[in-house]
Amino acid sequence: MSEDPLSDDRIVESWRTNATPWTEVIRERGIESRNVVTNDAIVDAVLSRSPGSVLDIGCGEGWLVRALAAHGVKGTGVDVVPELIAAAAQAGGGDFQVASYEMIAAGDFHVSVDVAVANFSLIGKDAVDGVVGRMPGIIEPGGSFIVQTLHPLTACGDLPYQTGWRSGSWAGFSDAFSDPAPWYFRTMQSWLDLFADTGLRLVEVREPVNPRTGKPASVIFITEPACQSIGTAI
Ligand SMILES: C[S@@+](CC[C@H](N)C(=O)[O-])C[C@H]1O[C@@H](n2cnc3c(N)ncnc32)[C@H](O)[C@@H]1O
Repeated sequence: MSEDPLSDDRIVESWRTNATPWTEVIRERGIESRNVVTNDAIVDAVLSRSPGSVLDIGCGEGWLVRALAAHGVKGTGVDVVPELIAAAAQAGGGDFQVASYEMIAAGDFHVSVDVAVANFSLIGKDAVDGVVGRMPGIIEPGGSFIVQTLHPLTACGDLPYQTGWRSGSWAGFSDAFSDPAPWYFRTMQSWLDLFADTGLRLVEVREPVNPRTGKPASVIFITEPACQSIGTAI
């Protein structure tokens, strides 16, 4: 086990531990905000780019690839947890492979797609910086990289609005969950800096609102490789 309680390694360990209850809660539609807002929001965002092929990064048990397949989109899902990939493959709807963000960042996972998407899966620090940095290299001309994540406004809670590691919690989930993953809180500015620093140009921001709370349930960033944007502008 990793000694540092606030680290990318601890995130992976936590998801290995919680693969079974996570698969169950997703398949039983047990997360209300997903059912009322964020699932449709990310499917709509991906379809708005009319992709032929999609890479789902940190795909978990694979629901998004299956949802996109229902719209005729060919999807590949990758995740570091073999148990989640086995559950995804068993349910079908796409191609699923075990791969870590570190592998993708290092160029050890070869793929080329119209859209790469990460749905609530960019949780850590260096691993996330690395995989986002690889996106311009795997997106086809005209393609995009789409991220749905916790909205910094609502996720900040009572702590200072400051980028940095935070302890995790499974509050609101059942007792089947244990060993919560730490996470790296990013302010809005920090997300924008990450995209700019990794050669991605922000083309659209969406803030899906939960109708039951009136607050943003998430933020969706739609980005394109910056050099491709310059190329098409000339
Ligand atoms: C909150 S779950 C989201 C899963 C899925 N995208 C969904 O919408 O249900 C976060 C996922 O990120 C994956 N993940 C976290 N760190 C990773 C890493 N370094 N490499 C690959 N996958 C990672 C976890 O295994 C987990 O499946």
